[in-house]
Amino acid sequence: MCGIIGIVGDYNNTNDIINGLKSLEYRGYDSCGIVGLVQNKFIEAKSISKINNLEKIIKKNKINTKISIAHTRWATHGKPSLVNTHPFIKNNCAVVHNGIIENFEYLTKKFNIRKNLIKSDTDSEIIALIFDKLLKQNIDPIKIIKQIVKLIKGTYAFAFLVKETKKIYAVKKGSPLVLGISDNFKAISSDILGLPDTTNEVIFLEDEDIVEINHTNFKIINFKNNTSKRNKHIFTPKKNFLIKGKFKHFMQKEIFYQPTSIKDTFFNYLEKKTKKIFLPKSDINFTQIKNIDFIACGTAFHACMIAKYWFEMFSNVNVNVHIASEFRHKKNINKSETIGIFVSQSGETMDTLQCLKFLKKNNIKTISVVNVFNSSIARLSDLIIPTLAGPEIGVASTKAFTSQLMALCMLLLNFQKLDNSINSKNYSDLLNTGNSIKKILHKDSEIKNIAKHLVNKKSIFYIGRGLMYPIALEGALKLKEITYKHCEGYAAGELKHGPLALIEDNIPVIALAPYDNNFLKILSNIQEIKARGGEIITLTDKLGYKKIKKFSHSTLILPDTKSYSAPIIYSIPVQLIAYHLAVFLGTDVDQPRNLAKAVTVE
Ligand code: F6R
Repeated sequence: MCGIIGIVGDYNNTNDIINGLKSLEYRGYDSCGIVGLVQNKFIEAKSISKINNLEKIIKKNKINTKISIAHTRWATHGKPSLVNTHPFIKNNCAVVHNGIIENFEYLTKKFNIRKNLIKSDTDSEIIALIFDKLLKQNIDPIKIIKQIVKLIKGTYAFAFLVKETKKIYAVKKGSPLVLGISDNFKAISSDILGLPDTTNEVIFLEDEDIVEINHTNFKIINFKNNTSKRNKHIFTPKKNFLIKGKFKHFMQKEIFYQPTSIKDTFFNYLEKKTKKIFLPKSDINFTQIKNIDFIACGTAFHACMIAKYWFEMFSNVNVNVHIASEFRHKKNINKSETIGIFVSQSGETMDTLQCLKFLKKNNIKTISVVNVFNSSIARLSDLIIPTLAGPEIGVASTKAFTSQLMALCMLLLNFQKLDNSINSKNYSDLLNTGNSIKKILHKDSEIKNIAKHLVNKKSIFYIGRGLMYPIALEGALKLKEITYKHCEGYAAGELKHGPLALIEDNIPVIALAPYDNNFLKILSNIQEIKARGGEIITLTDKLGYKKIKKFSHSTLILPDTKSYSAPIIYSIPVQLIAYHLAVFLGTDVDQPRNLAKAVTVE
């Protein structure tokens, strides 16, 4: 899949275009190019190496434009070469394209385009030729777009730069495109990572939306010529992630950011109208995958554990989960029909990176789920799935973890499916996750009271079953890491095999107990703990509350969940308990002792 960016503003925005391209580089980097309009002339630059090289060419040729479109290419039709590099410029228009036009030969004939005009091997150049031909017939650009795209078979996101109108037009079907809005510019990009940091609002465009932008205005219409109303979402510039704002700590800010990061990650891969999932393209043939090795460290490892449960519930793939520092010493690895999936916030964790190199050496295809999309792990993997959590500053991972879960969920829902659409049940479950998180954040003071109660406890336990077991581990890790208190996470059914010996009067046990298939079993475990004097703190939902309240010292009622949303939603109170307890204990919440944000040692 390729990356598209276009900006029209009242300032020279070439730097923003370059930064945008760098952010989109994970979508493909076989070649890249830009075209801008300067004094009514197209000025272009292209490179068949990385964006850094294009940047050098731009600087050398002093290219500065207020309106331009650019592209980073993942080659499908035609090898990486300058002649196959987008944008394609034909007299009065320039075009960049993401997707595949299956019937480009038919379009060539239909619009009577002479073969000698076609210089590249791509399926995209023909669109520029047709567009130019119709412009010469004085047809309005929007009408031209409608005329062309109605005939296209395949998926596409296009951006067109038209000399005469000095506007950028864009249209999409099956490939992602967002619109960035600011007072002094409008921009389109393949995802929000590509938008300038000064963007105020963002619109996730839907299939068959046609957009027209100049620096003051934008217009979205559909194929029937009706104006399309789309929700605007607040855009968070990167620099805003680096200040605490109204929050006391970065960790607190990052916990409260989760309704946004979850939504951003969801909509980065999901087309609202068709409910189809679109992951970046790669040459991995998912239909042939029989085994997955998930590899990560710490919190990211817990995300992998949840992914294992999901894959085992909903697919026929054989899944193994490995702690990176252990996997590195493995002698025998499964090589056939296998992929390695690496999950990492920083994308720099040394153990995870070394495992990636090890699999690559063994010719195993690799996917990385990373929050830093130009990190070492991202750059080395065959497919990058960014989590759109924004920079995470607090050492304890919070929003990156839940975004990892959302991204892994999208990967699973798309896995081995020929038709990449998700059913309405899963769609609404995931769509509502952001709102459910907001509801929990409103219960912050209730959660703070739970934390207060833990201040003088010498030891704390988390228990969970199924999808809640990794969350129990995560809750315990978070708590240890920032409060320095002893805390253990256990699979609830495992207590009786040893750790139950540690339960005595008033030892707090936090039970993660949504009313799911495991509920009655964890209820029995809770009674076993209660019988030994343990103090039960329950995180459950309304139905669970009715059955569990009589055994609980205190209960937090959470929104109802389903299999995909449950681990994301139960992560939030677990993070907040650790956070408030750390604040009560006066530890350094954002930079706990002995730890670092990116662990680049083995
Ligand atoms: C815990 C935490 C760590 C990281 C681990 C891996 O809150 O943040 O356990 O999850 O060090 O780091 P990444 O995800 O950067 O590979």
